[in-house]
Amino acid sequence: MSRTVYVNGDYLPEEEAKVSVFDRGFLMADGVYEVTSVLGGKLIDFAGHCKRLARSLAELDMTNPHSDDDWLAIHRELVARNGIDDGMVYLQVTRGNPGDRDFAFPPADLPPTVVLFTQAKPGLADNPMAQTGMRVISIPDIRWGRRDIKTVQLLYPSMGKMMAKKAGVDDSWFVEDGLVTEGTSNNAYIVKGNKIITRALSNDILHGITRAAVLRFAAEAQMEVEERSFTIDEAKTADEAFISSASAFVMPVVEIDGAAIGTGKVGHVVPRLREIYLDEMRKAAV
Ligand code: PDD
Repeated sequence: MSRTVYVNGDYLPEEEAKVSVFDRGFLMADGVYEVTSVLGGKLIDFAGHCKRLARSLAELDMTNPHSDDDWLAIHRELVARNGIDDGMVYLQVTRGNPGDRDFAFPPADLPPTVVLFTQAKPGLADNPMAQTGMRVISIPDIRWGRRDIKTVQLLYPSMGKMMAKKAGVDDSWFVEDGLVTEGTSNNAYIVKGNKIITRALSNDILHGITRAAVLRFAAEAQMEVEERSFTIDEAKTADEAFISSASAFVMPVVEIDGAAIGTGKVGHVVPRLREIYLDEMRKAAV
């Protein structure tokens, strides 16, 4: 079935939606994106995603084309037009179409290209992987140095996902200087006793919106939170491990590079965190 997508102010059938071949998003990966999940027809942590979008744009000297209220209205309209109950809204803002290819940025008043589309994912919060846990491999992190900006340069994360597929597992964790940075499209954590350990925020990782909420809820639930780097060896000896993202929420990891984490089965802390996260975020959904 054809979706309705949003392009530069218009709601169009996907077949009629067009972006120029000279668009800098296409030619230079010169653009940023956001992913917001929808549960029960409502947006999860929308304010967080809007805030990070504004930051990504500012870091790249791009003007935010819409107010938070406008972004919310567009998201809601797309969710309604596509009848999304559970799924995702993807948003991309690129530096637009200067009408030519040039490494230099075009003048700042060039209108950006704004594209939003939905992907329906019935039962998004009931992913069976939450019961079985996921398996990951480690791979070198060879991405650029500004991973805190959510750019559309997703080639290496895609390659990382393919390396995992080829290895017969679910995802890859990136490692730099011997330390885990994050997953291909998620933040990475280990659990030791009552303590949750995840890399501190810096330019080395994306500042996950789900991460921020999870750490807040963990602290509220009297769990200890330690923001520091860890090695793959330390992860292998942890009691539990997990990832977080807007599309996976909180997802247990039960194996790293062939080694079982803890019992090799989903533990107690991660499912509890997942439940708290989903309960609280559903309540706050807009
Ligand atoms: N990815 N780290 C990376 C590299 C990511 O791409 C993502 C999100 C995250 C988690 O961020 P958040 O909790 O705000 O979703 C961390 C999205 C889901 C994607 O690209 O599809």
